Amino acid sequence: MSGATDERARPALLRVEHAVALTLAETSRAADTYPNVLAAIGTTLGWQIGAAWELSAADGALHCVEIWEAPGEDAHEFRALSEHLVLSRDEGLPGRVWALGGPVWIADVKVETSFPRAAAASAAGLQTAFCFPIRSAGAFLGVMEFCTRTATEPDEPLLESVAILGSQIGQFVVRRQAEDAVRVSEARNRAILDSALDAVITMNHRGVVVEFNHAAERIFGYSAAEAVGRDMADLIVPPSLRDAHRRGLARYLETGSPTLLDRRLEITAMRADGSEFPVELTITRIGLPGEPTFTGYVRDITERHRAEEELRASRARIVEAADEERRRIERNLHDGAQQHLVSLALRLRNAAESLGDDPQGTRELLERADLELAVALEELRELAQGIHPAVLSERGLRPALEGLAARVPVTVQIAALPDERLADAVEVAVYYLVAEALTNVVKYAQASVATVRVEVADGLVVVEVVDDGVGGTSAGSGSGLRGLADRVEALGGVLTIDSPRGSGTRVRGEIPVPPVG
Ligand SMILES: Nc1ncnc2c1ncn2[C@@H]1O[C@H](COP(=O)(O)OP(=O)(O)OP(=O)(O)O)[C@@H](O)[C@H]1O
Ligand SMILES: [Mg+2]
Repeated sequence: MSGATDERARPALLRVEHAVALTLAETSRAADTYPNVLAAIGTTLGWQIGAAWELSAADGALHCVEIWEAPGEDAHEFRALSEHLVLSRDEGLPGRVWALGGPVWIADVKVETSFPRAAAASAAGLQTAFCFPIRSAGAFLGVMEFCTRTATEPDEPLLESVAILGSQIGQFVVRRQAEDAVRVSEARNRAILDSALDAVITMNHRGVVVEFNHAAERIFGYSAAEAVGRDMADLIVPPSLRDAHRRGLARYLETGSPTLLDRRLEITAMRADGSEFPVELTITRIGLPGEPTFTGYVRDITERHRAEEELRASRARIVEAADEERRRIERNLHDGAQQHLVSLALRLRNAAESLGDDPQGTRELLERADLELAVALEELRELAQGIHPAVLSERGLRPALEGLAARVPVTVQIAALPDERLADAVEVAVYYLVAEALTNVVKYAQASVATVRVEVADGLVVVEVVDDGVGGTSAGSGSGLRGLADRVEALGGVLTIDSPRGSGTRVRGEIPVPPVG
């Protein structure tokens, strides 16, 4: 190699090395590496076209992934050809560089048989090309090739230099790709954490919070910025449980024996305002090397506790109401029918004793016994009616409610009643709602009229008893309306009471109707 060539080459290769180093320093995304490096080398050398080829894992061949043209260039034929070309090992200039494992210089592409794009290149006026491999940790990733219109003799020092640059570029691409992948996966994990409904809180081995997601902010009332860096026990564990929490962490760190890990616990947590609430907690140790890190998944179960409490209370009231009903029946039987039957038995015994001696007296005794029996029967009938009106189960809501309306000592207008039969439990609930509401009208409302309306539509039965009396009742003040609410809610319905003072009362139940079965 002549001294003159060295003089020409040295500044070029230095300029290229410098330009690539600068470009890599300024490139932060893997995707920008090839465009930036192609432009840096092409521009520095004053060449017209550059292309990056990547080895595809899918088909084991080289694909052109990026083309650079000097400003003002239009080599669209060459570009179109390169973009759609798939080169295997030893094919074309990139394939030859792949097979050789080193850089190649083609002084005149027109006479070079290994240059399949020769026609397109000479149409674009391109003469000389060089190509070098891109590798990382010895693995071949692809190549970069450059073409120029000026016929140029091989520049060995430049070729040697770009062969080394190829390794730097390759390492850079692989590192940036890994960083991009980490960034994407971190962003994905962040999004998952932030959209979780449960609080997710991570603490390090010293018990310091290192992660606090959106749900945790909402549930505990701290912002992530406030929470991260604080001692977790101080932050969300109520004072009474803090020692146990710290002992548990210390024991785990000493012995590695987990008492709480990976189990579902119900415990009490504390909000920023100091209020305590029940949570369901699962703690997991994150399986990474180094000091242990723990993640707690916390679910606020205040609502669930409230619902359970409400359910327990309503069950207790239903049981209580059933007991009360049994006591009432027992009392009524004892005071009413039972008394009549006892005196009936007495009269019959007396009648038997006086038989023959006093026919007139016996007749009177038997007549009285007959009357007593009629009264006892009537009482038993009324009692049975009160327990469960036979007409309701036999003939349905219309006759049962019409009968009820006729019996109460207040004027009742019936606005609507269904003729169809509904599920037993629904019919019973509707009947008792009307019965209790009308009894209340009689007892408290001082009303001139009460209106009953029962309508079935869209899978819902709506029952209303409206009076024009004094109003002013509120649900829950007595056992009657509360019992009704329990009964209606047990069927998935709702009971509402509207009773402004002085403007009458409306008791309204809405109950879903299951198909009659
Ligand atoms: N239609 C009404 N007009 C005015 N006040 C009413 C009416 N219905 C209920 N109230 C008032 O609401 C209270 C609660 O009624 P509720 O039916 O729950 O209990 P109660 O009738 O007092 O007792 P129970 O029904 O257990 O015999 C009544 O005591 C009464 O003061
Ligand atoms: Mg009542």
